[in-house]
Amino acid sequence: MAPRSTAHTVALIEGDGIGPEIVAAALPVLEAAADRDGARLEWRRLDAGTRAYARTGRSVPPDVLEACRGVRAMLKGPAGLPGVRHADGTEAGTVAGPLRKAFTLFANVRPVRRVPGVSAIAAGGTDYVIVRENTEGAYATRGAGELTGDGVEDRIRITREGTTRVARLAFELARHRAAARAVSPAGTGGSAAARVTCCDKANVLRSFAFFRQVAGEVAEQYPDVAFDAVYADAAAAAIVDQSRRFDVLLAENLIGDILSDVAAATIGGLGFCPAANLGERHGLFEPVHGSAPDIAGTDRANPAAMLLAGAMMLEWLGLPAAADSVRRAVDRAVAAGVLGLEADGRVASTRGAGRAVLDALS
Ligand code: IPM
Ligand code: MN
Repeated sequence: MAPRSTAHTVALIEGDGIGPEIVAAALPVLEAAADRDGARLEWRRLDAGTRAYARTGRSVPPDVLEACRGVRAMLKGPAGLPGVRHADGTEAGTVAGPLRKAFTLFANVRPVRRVPGVSAIAAGGTDYVIVRENTEGAYATRGAGELTGDGVEDRIRITREGTTRVARLAFELARHRAAARAVSPAGTGGSAAARVTCCDKANVLRSFAFFRQVAGEVAEQYPDVAFDAVYADAAAAAIVDQSRRFDVLLAENLIGDILSDVAAATIGGLGFCPAANLGERHGLFEPVHGSAPDIAGTDRANPAAMLLAGAMMLEWLGLPAAADSVRRAVDRAVAAGVLGLEADGRVASTRGAGRAVLDALS
């Protein structure tokens, strides 16, 4: 009898713009990698984003939320289009915000790893992770800012609970990375010692001073992990010119949102940056970049971030070997020049890049 493989049901949201193309390029690679690891991926396709918004008035309709509730992993392409907006100017088709909120996906984990061979300003071997608090901070009033006579007020909310849980995850991650480096020191750049660096504006706002204080309290429970803090503006500069000093960066929601795009630009662009939104039970995996409607349907979008998001999902599903093989295959395809960026920052062919990564799976 053939050995039975473990099935994992994944909620799949293709998203808008280039979403369907990069998802189509990524799925066969993820399936093949899981298969080699004795697992089977079963996709439950769900309609969320601008089409769902046009149809139902919600980018994430209640039946989609319900379907997501029943799975551990959600894989999502970029969602939202610049032309689809609420009356107040905010985007109406985005999907990540509602899912983060509905499932309390409190940590947004964004690896910043320079893929060897990608032309980038970050030093070779740059390899760190930004952990962004994902449910409160300056985005706490997302969609609910208050009109105040002649202006609008959004509030920054930092709670002990929200900060503690995301800080713990950052310290656990630093510990895990250090253990992985000890096993295979080659291939990992960055700092050798485990370190969490808190990025905030504790010099200006009381809320951020509290964030730093709580992070420091959590640090006391991790004597094996070094802890320091940097003001967010200085951190933005250091991301550009001292990226190898970082291991795990911990940041409030808005600061993490901005720093992760800055970081992406230093390693060759958002096209190589995946994200995992993690909660107690659910994980949502997505590329950090947007839906790029200007190149949708042209077969020129870089599928690397989507593939790397899929690798993070495999890890979350308990398939670290499959995750590693996807990352290595992306690296090989880049090294072989088949997943190279053209002068305009796009790939020669999304489909071709997907096939090349599939071929490169070891
Ligand atoms: C991100 C994005 C989202 C955010 C948008 C699309 C709602 O910028 O995931 O970084 O603001 O969090
Ligand atoms: Mn962003």
